[in-house]
Amino acid sequence: MTRVVDTHRQVFGSDPEGVWSAPGRVNLIGEHTDYNDGLVLPIALPQRTDAACSPRADDLLRVWSVQTDELVEVALADVGPGRPEGWAAYVAGVLWALRAAGHEVRGLDVTVDSAVPVGAGLSSSAALECAVGAAASDLFGLGLLADDAGRAALAAGCVRAENEVAGAPTGGMDQSAALLCRVDHALLLDCRSGATEHVPFDLASDGTASGHGTTAGDGSASGSGTESGDGAPSGHVLLVTDTRAEHSLNDGQYGERRSSCEQAAAELGVAALRDVDPKDLDDALARLSDDVLRRRTRHIVTEIARVRACVEALRAGDLAGVGRLFDASHASLRDDYEVSCAELDASVEAARGAGALGARMTGGGFGGSSIALLPAGAVDDAVRATTAAFAERGWREPRCFVVTAGVAAGRDA
Ligand code: GLA
Repeated sequence: MTRVVDTHRQVFGSDPEGVWSAPGRVNLIGEHTDYNDGLVLPIALPQRTDAACSPRADDLLRVWSVQTDELVEVALADVGPGRPEGWAAYVAGVLWALRAAGHEVRGLDVTVDSAVPVGAGLSSSAALECAVGAAASDLFGLGLLADDAGRAALAAGCVRAENEVAGAPTGGMDQSAALLCRVDHALLLDCRSGATEHVPFDLASDGTASGHGTTAGDGSASGSGTESGDGAPSGHVLLVTDTRAEHSLNDGQYGERRSSCEQAAAELGVAALRDVDPKDLDDALARLSDDVLRRRTRHIVTEIARVRACVEALRAGDLAGVGRLFDASHASLRDDYEVSCAELDASVEAARGAGALGARMTGGGFGGSSIALLPAGAVDDAVRATTAAFAERGWREPRCFVVTAGVAAGRDA
């Protein structure tokens, strides 16, 4: 946070009015279900994007990124689909969407600094949108952070920024996670009704898991685990592996999956694949016109059922059950939905080989990150096994880090 303030002062010549931040996310389960009116279960990451902001009296937006060392300037009147291009679209798009929703929003000077790795499938773009959206809400007196209804409205604006200005046809999970998640809880979000439940996900407090640190991209995990009597770490942890196989959500594959789901829903005469009851799945599959649509539909319907089962398993403290659901989700995403890749499969297999209760790709896929539910004492083995598997194949060294469920977007200073 000091860095974003110092940089803001250097770039814009005065202190920011405040600093806001928003988290990246990992989805525990419920992948590609958000745009099918389904259920998702993300947690907010400890890794966040900071936005130091000062309001302007005119309608100019100036944004500096610490990561790219670049200043982008755009008049709000010039923001629209495809304008500006690149990362600044996520910032400008949010102001554009708030204006489109009837809010009085003026220009801003913004400095962004992100600890959420870009291209890792951890929703760095939603973190950027939501940090700026939180700042705009406070600075222009919109009051959207005051309650969950306001936060959901802000999330919807951030989704519009991403869909319409940045041109990525994503669903709404990432922005909802960044704005609605609570510390030590996973967010069960019904993407049709907008209903939410906060499901305890505090692996440290129930004696089944531990407090732990995160690591900075050096391929090792540190500080994980409480100590049991014999000095060995006890409990369980969630390990994220950023495969560094870069993914992009606006390269067509994501949109193609979305269209297939819409086509399947249309053929079945339902509003969304959410409406297919798991017990009628075989029937529904028999009515679809081709095998690709059958496999896509099977993934969505079974994945939504797995979210429900995972919530029950978490509530019952059944981590073995959670692990089995992770494994089933990964298989479904790999074989039926076809959004995994060799690096994700290898990271999942390495974690399992090191004793994970379960592991799966998380996020959109085609690269990005996987998650593994591991006994705390197996983390180092999992990191070693994953790193070795990647080195053997000549891939870039993956980044592994243990995460806990963090807090939603808000004002930091
Ligand atoms: C990306 C999108 C989300 C969601 C996931 C897959 O993260 O941004 O809306 O569709 O992929 O679950």
